[in-house]
Amino acid sequence: MIIVYLILLVILIIIIFLFSSPKLSPIPYFPSQSVDISKIIKALDLKNNQIIFDLGAGDGIVIFKAAEKAFRHKFNTKFVAVEINPILILILHLRRLFHINRNNIKIVRDDIFKINIKDQISKIKMTDQKLKIKNDIIVYLYISPWFLEKTIENCKMKNEKFSVVSYMYPIKSLKKKEIVIQGRNKIFSYL
Ligand SMILES: C[S@@+](CC[C@H](N)C(=O)[O-])C[C@H]1O[C@@H](n2cnc3c(N)ncnc32)[C@H](O)[C@@H]1O
Repeated sequence: MIIVYLILLVILIIIIFLFSSPKLSPIPYFPSQSVDISKIIKALDLKNNQIIFDLGAGDGIVIFKAAEKAFRHKFNTKFVAVEINPILILILHLRRLFHINRNNIKIVRDDIFKINIKDQISKIKMTDQKLKIKNDIIVYLYISPWFLEKTIENCKMKNEKFSVVSYMYPIKSLKKKEIVIQGRNKIFSYL
């Protein structure tokens, strides 16, 4: 019995470490609030042949709901969940496995400050001829405000044109294009 408790304790310590280590997870995991999900998805403005990134996807609450809607509308839209925390990556893979639109969902373990978005887009385009012609790139962000500009900078370096939806926090450098949607928390859209 003591062995079982010890194993559980070790697992608990590992989980706490994975969620609190600033190196592994510099931005804490807080899911977007479920009351705001429908407004967030509306703000993403789902259309055919888009590629939607959730940078710091958490447990995928936004990306999986959005992928469900895209499936209902028969959109050929691709979803990419980028996450750094191995436990959340495992949860994302499990949820993807049982998702109705799993073929259009990709889970990527990477750092949102370093990920080469352009590479990811090229890989997706290689597998889908329709996306080669025209596509919109949308980036969803719910991350600490002081990391927003750094993340946007990385996206800009690696990709020419993309739109952004940011939950709770505005992005100063995109102010000109800003539309604010009032949910329980604000949703900032830069389409
Ligand atoms: C506030 S949560 C948002 C989760 C999800 N986007 C949502 O809206 O529910 C931020 C997420 O970013 C992840 N994260 C933190 N730093 C990261 C990094 N450098 N690269 C990738 N993901 C990161 C965390 O593990 C966490 O899951």
